[in-house]
Amino acid sequence: MIQMNNVSKSFVTKDAHIHAVKDVNLTIESGEIFGIIGYSGAGKSTLIRLLNLLEAPSSGTVKIADYDMLNLKGRALRKARQEISMIFQHFNLLWSRTVRENIAYPLEIAGVPKKKRNERVDELISLVGLDGRGGAYPSQLSGGQKQRVGIARALANDPKVLLCDEATSALDPKTTSSILELLYEINQKLGLTIVSSLMKCMSFTKFVGELQSWKMEKWSSKGQCLMCLNIQRKKLLKRS
Ligand SMILES: Nc1ncnc2c1ncn2[C@@H]1O[C@H](COP(=O)(O)OP(=O)(O)OP(=O)(O)O)[C@@H](O)[C@H]1O
Ligand SMILES: [Mg+2]
Repeated sequence: MIQMNNVSKSFVTKDAHIHAVKDVNLTIESGEIFGIIGYSGAGKSTLIRLLNLLEAPSSGTVKIADYDMLNLKGRALRKARQEISMIFQHFNLLWSRTVRENIAYPLEIAGVPKKKRNERVDELISLVGLDGRGGAYPSQLSGGQKQRVGIARALANDPKVLLCDEATSALDPKTTSSILELLYEINQKLGLTIVSSLMKCMSFTKFVGELQSWKMEKWSSKGQCLMCLNIQRKKLLKRS
């Protein structure tokens, strides 16, 4: 499903040349939940952004599903991006739009007719457990509910891959668990491939203990350490 070959990303600024990601080789199978952990600055966000080409790699190749991402342009790139969705740490909701209107937004952009759009929004509201809250504005929701809207919006166009960059780090531990559970449920129901950075999940002691016993690959990146864990699906939810 996802294949990165010898992917590196450097940023050249006025006073530094930063190797954010160096020589990453990674294969993620369809339907897998893949977690990325690493220290602050290790390159987690950059790696995730390389997957949907929000950042272009300095070298290497990125293939997702049947797309050779680096050779796509214009309409083809937009279509591929619809299949690679993303949720964010601070939810990135539109504050002047209701829950329904936020979720409908990517469907409007994709030109889905109104009736079909409304049906899809109803389905998604139900899927993320926000029944009855469709008319609320983001400011009237808790953090966990806001992220549920973010997830519903990310799923609107039936993506094949969901990228999560610190999607739960603005949430308390209990809400984090409920969002992880929701992501797991979605993975099971829809067979969606999920790639997630997991920095703040480390605050669950048990979670970390289990993470450490899982298969791990390590990539060294100029003195920094970027670790990737192949997360077995059942274990994602196991906690005290
Ligand atoms: N646009 C940019 N321009 C210059 N340097 C950048 C840019 N984006 C990231 N970097 C640098 O690349 C390195 C990796 O950053 P990145 O944001 O990917 O780390 P991270 O693992 O997500 O960190 P955190 O856990 O704090 O979110 C850092 O040294 C950062 O300063
Ligand atoms: Mg980051």
